Amino acid sequence: MPLQNNISLKKFNSFGIESIARDFCVFNSIDELIEIIDQYRDLIISSHLILGGGSNILLTQALLDTLVLKNEIKGIQLKREDANYFYIEAAAGENWHHFVVTCIKNGWAGVENLSLIPGTVGAAPIQNIGAYGVEVKDIIESVEAYHIADQTIHRFTNADCAFDYRDSIFKKNQKNQFVITNVLFRLSKYPIYKTNYGAIETELTKMGIKELSIQSISEAVIKIRSSKLPDPQIIGNAGSFFKNPSISKAHFEQLIKKYPSINGYPNKDGSIKIAAGWLIEKVGWKGYREGDAGCHSLQALVLINYGAASGSEILALSDKIILSILQEFDIQLEREVNIL
Ligand code: EPU
Repeated sequence: MPLQNNISLKKFNSFGIESIARDFCVFNSIDELIEIIDQYRDLIISSHLILGGGSNILLTQALLDTLVLKNEIKGIQLKREDANYFYIEAAAGENWHHFVVTCIKNGWAGVENLSLIPGTVGAAPIQNIGAYGVEVKDIIESVEAYHIADQTIHRFTNADCAFDYRDSIFKKNQKNQFVITNVLFRLSKYPIYKTNYGAIETELTKMGIKELSIQSISEAVIKIRSSKLPDPQIIGNAGSFFKNPSISKAHFEQLIKKYPSINGYPNKDGSIKIAAGWLIEKVGWKGYREGDAGCHSLQALVLINYGAASGSEILALSDKIILSILQEFDIQLEREVNIL
């Protein structure tokens, strides 16, 4: 398959940032992926970027000196079922929200709280996407991925993926080694509604919902997300730019004396997870704008491109935010978004 050269990535990243890819290729099937890897294996091993929806990347280089492979493998199918579950296989290039909508239409339950998350199915396990009390690890049975160097297909069980908060094996020791091709989800025949996170209950009441359904939960989540997260089609962003940090209980107790309204949620290991949005807002960044780079006025965890910001301007703003949080709270923020 021939490579395309000097391709603009502006429409392939949700920040809407201009960056030119040296080489670019789209694959629509596993066979096409195998063909590309056969042909360009050494080039790919030396450097590559697998692009899904481009909703978790910040491009900081005007010229991206690498081979960008855009995953467009499509397909959603019921593979098997047992007494309690449907096992649904979705191809990595499927749009995530399209997958969610398909599940809801078919009565496959468990994914409704993850409505409207941008990106693709294949990217979901990499950073273990999560929202409104559910993480994708809760519904993943296994992940199928192609090993670039060995040119073989592997199947990772849920445990193999070593999922953690916005983390997995695909971000750690297996980073850039595999191309995710399919994800097998285990979805319930008998829904267990999760409505206790944040504003879901309130939204359902506002909507006048008397009887819960996966459809109504999805609608509530869509309403909440749309009310505070900017639509990347309208304003460039990559969702939460930072992860919510965890600190020791002693550190939290010290902070709460000075800031009684600080948000903290206990983790299983005894540490406390802090709402980074609260920290960023407290320091005064919410609604801040510098040129076309800014911090969203409704959700401080989201950095935005008002139109013509470069990736390095957004990165520079994120550096300033990180430094200010360190100085004010002695907390080191980590970026959730991948910097390229
Ligand atoms: N908060 C503020 N100011 C802000 C933003 C948030 O004080 O500007 C406070 C809120 O009042 C709330 C707390 O922080 O008490 C948590 O806020 P929210 O429920 O909006 O969630 P979040 O922790 O900011 C996380 C995920 C989101 C996910 C939501 C809902 C991370 C990094 N982000 O955000 O995921 O949608 O929970 O479950 O964990 C993403 O990863 O891209 C993403 C959008």
